[in-house]
Amino acid sequence: MHPCLLVTEILLHIIGFLETSSEHHSTCHKGDLARLARTCRAFMDPALDVLWRTQCTLGPLVKCLPGHLWTRGACDEINLIGKPTTNDWLSLRRYSFRIRVFEPSWPDPVRSSGVGDDTLSAIFSPDVFHALFPALHTLNLEFLSNKIALALLDRVLSPRLLQLRFRLPRHLDPHNLNELLESITDRAPSLRVLKIDAYAPAPSSVLHLELGFGQIPHLRTLCFPSTLYVSPRSLLKPRQMQHLRVLSLTLTTDPVPALYHPDQPVFPVLKCMKITAHTLDQCCDLLRITTSSQLGEVSMSYSSQASEAVMHTFLQEVGKAHGRSRNLHTLVLQHAFTISGPNLKPSVYSPSTFKPLLACHRLRVLDIRDVGDLAIDDAFIANATLAWPRLEELRLRGLPWIDSHRTTIASLRELIRGCSRLARLSMAIDARALPDKNSAWRSSPVEELNISDSIMEDPEAVERYLRASLPNLKTLIALDNLQCWRAVLRMEGVIGDE
Ligand SMILES: *[C@@H]1O[C@H](CO)[C@@H](O)[C@H](O)[C@H]1NC(C)=O
Ligand SMILES: *[C@@H]1O[C@H](CO)[C@@H](O)[C@H](O)[C@H]1NC(C)=O
Repeated sequence: MHPCLLVTEILLHIIGFLETSSEHHSTCHKGDLARLARTCRAFMDPALDVLWRTQCTLGPLVKCLPGHLWTRGACDEINLIGKPTTNDWLSLRRYSFRIRVFEPSWPDPVRSSGVGDDTLSAIFSPDVFHALFPALHTLNLEFLSNKIALALLDRVLSPRLLQLRFRLPRHLDPHNLNELLESITDRAPSLRVLKIDAYAPAPSSVLHLELGFGQIPHLRTLCFPSTLYVSPRSLLKPRQMQHLRVLSLTLTTDPVPALYHPDQPVFPVLKCMKITAHTLDQCCDLLRITTSSQLGEVSMSYSSQASEAVMHTFLQEVGKAHGRSRNLHTLVLQHAFTISGPNLKPSVYSPSTFKPLLACHRLRVLDIRDVGDLAIDDAFIANATLAWPRLEELRLRGLPWIDSHRTTIASLRELIRGCSRLARLSMAIDARALPDKNSAWRSSPVEELNISDSIMEDPEAVERYLRASLPNLKTLIALDNLQCWRAVLRMEGVIGDE
């Protein structure tokens, strides 16, 4: 045997190539690994390690129990018959101690765990679970969408867990959830990744939380669903989240506390911030106190309309964050509007509101949606073109029924000439006047152009012109939603007949 194959690390690495990614577990690769394990004594341990370290079902493990203890069910799931003794369970340790990651890849509960509910419950009983899986650090229980999920989860928490992902059941008692979250922070203090998903929100299931994040100091990724409202206060206690890189959650309406401790940086290494809040002020305050110099992506959604002054202040904070960070490349800003009173008079944002963004030279994605009346004009776009040389995606949209059409084909031409990487563009324009000459806009990479809600006299001529000018265009969207929105608003009594 070649001497390098005697080094376990090298052997493990080579054998690792046989393993496919966790989404595409294919039996043929598992078969290769199993054959390798039988090839010779030197290969056995490393091959078994690789074979077992990531499991997407529990079926294969249960099948290692003596044959009289299990049977195959109607959906191919494995079910226990009879009660395995402690020794039966312990006999599985030979394989199970190698399992580090349990991550089912199917949303269907039976198929994805590979075992029936009772069998799952038996494996997830605290004695069995902790004895069988001493090396397990990553647990994805998203497939468990019923109430027993929370009970099972509670039983298997341990200081060994580094990554935990689960989904909230459709209906849940706030009290139970609070208890579970408390257990998680108490009993899984080493967590690096905590991701909780939920089904579409039912209003009654929206929960307001005060959490002890201080107890999980190594957290790198925190993603909560929109049904959990987290108070800014519990997020911003001193010395918390010093390693957090990805934050995605919804804030309660409480104001964001101002922090004045220079020695206690807030989110010092944050890379991605996705916040849903009631007001843009909250987003602004959060961004202001974030000290990270690694921020790459800022994505904010707010529901209460923002005045021009607040928008300007927010964008100034974005400008400052861009100054602090070497890498701020993505800004997504969305007003989650409702068709009701306050939108009757949408805020008008003059081009000067957006001036702070012109300092953000590293932007690759800028996506501003539904904020109000976006009074951006050709002159602003001419400046923006110079300011954003790396832009790949641009979406500038006011509220859908009031796109104010101050930009023209000239803006498209400027952007396409100036931003040589721009591939996706969405903006309403006034396309009544088409340039005489059909000047091709260099070899522009624009693939997708959405000019919905634009004003056009001759839509076919506009389409001909754009298709002729943009050699790589794959998708041209020019739906007119405007009339449809007006009809909806008239029905709701928001606007009168014109
Ligand atoms: C564009 O830039 C010029 C020169 O820097 C400036 O005078 C003008 O106000 C800017 N226009 C807009 C709309 O920002
Ligand atoms: C095009 O833009 C309109 C207006 O913002 C939007 O409603 C629509 O979903 C967009 N279409 C696509 C395919 O992105």
